[in-house]
Amino acid sequence: MKSAKELLQHFQKQLAAITSLNTLEELKIEYLGRNGRINQQLKNITQIDPSERREFGQELNTLKEQITQEIELKRKKLLQIESTKQTIDTTLPAKSYPKGSLHLVTYAIEEISHIFEKIGFIRMSYPEVEWEFFSFEALNMPSDHPARDDFETFFMDYEPHKEHGKMVLTPHTSSGQNREMRRLGKPPIRMINIAKTYRPNWDASHVPMFHQFEGLCVDKRINITHLKGTIDYFAKQFFGEERETRLRPFHFQFTEPSFEVDITCDICQGTGKVNGEKCRLCKQGWLELGGTGMVHPNVLKAGGIDPDEYTGWAFGFGVERVMMMKPGIGLNNMRLLYDGDIRVLEQF
Ligand code: DAH
Repeated sequence: MKSAKELLQHFQKQLAAITSLNTLEELKIEYLGRNGRINQQLKNITQIDPSERREFGQELNTLKEQITQEIELKRKKLLQIESTKQTIDTTLPAKSYPKGSLHLVTYAIEEISHIFEKIGFIRMSYPEVEWEFFSFEALNMPSDHPARDDFETFFMDYEPHKEHGKMVLTPHTSSGQNREMRRLGKPPIRMINIAKTYRPNWDASHVPMFHQFEGLCVDKRINITHLKGTIDYFAKQFFGEERETRLRPFHFQFTEPSFEVDITCDICQGTGKVNGEKCRLCKQGWLELGGTGMVHPNVLKAGGIDPDEYTGWAFGFGVERVMMMKPGIGLNNMRLLYDGDIRVLEQF
């Protein structure tokens, strides 16, 4: 049996450790409840010598009073703490948390996909690490052809494939053309292939890893008017209604005829002049978008499509390039996109 003093000390120790009203209530029950410690002690009164019972009873009563008082005091303190916690200072400025955003290239890819999906093109992605065959041979560029030099390529240190040659990092999304022809077996084809591409260049307008989007349309009686109409549609959706495009004769192995696509400059509106002076961005009113043309019969054949029955067009543009040409973006160095400086991305 503990003495009243010991019990009080024990209680005070427990009380000091209490920080919430709930645990305080539990402590109160532990000591003052019907089966609490005080009442347990009272039950022991019968074991005490009758002459000492009075004093024992008094001691327990004082203890009970003291415990009750201390508990009340603690309750007040806890209530006070609780009330200051709940006070909200509405004049304080709100906390602002850092907000993440998508990378500019991701935004551009989403916008481009959406524009082409609206006119029934299917978004595809083909291997980033690809065989030479799909990157060149299937595109009418045999291994000894000088046009291959236009597509400086990273070769993988990997055993060559018996039919498909060496393994490369795709130098252009055109490698997806043959893949799509094989996937579908036969036209109609309306594909937009957006993927990473690689070439060993590193300057203000080139990075070794960049993105291209490749359009491919093959069906019966497809001609250049469909190509021009689709490119115009893209240019107006992506850059603005007032923009015009033109096709400039060019050469690519995989298209015949081939063109480079130009778009009117947004600074001089295609006039080439700003306040009587030569436009500094484009010099003659036009900016180059990328390559295009009517799919070469050999490319169709390589994909198992009969060029006497079907015709098609294709184009390949750079994602970073068209995105940087968008009015208001104001990025003049492609490397900024991949330097990882968060301040660049935070602006968009
Ligand atoms: N593959 C070419 C390049 O990377 C771009 C290109 C030109 C793609 C003409 C095409 C095309 O589909 O028809 O420079």
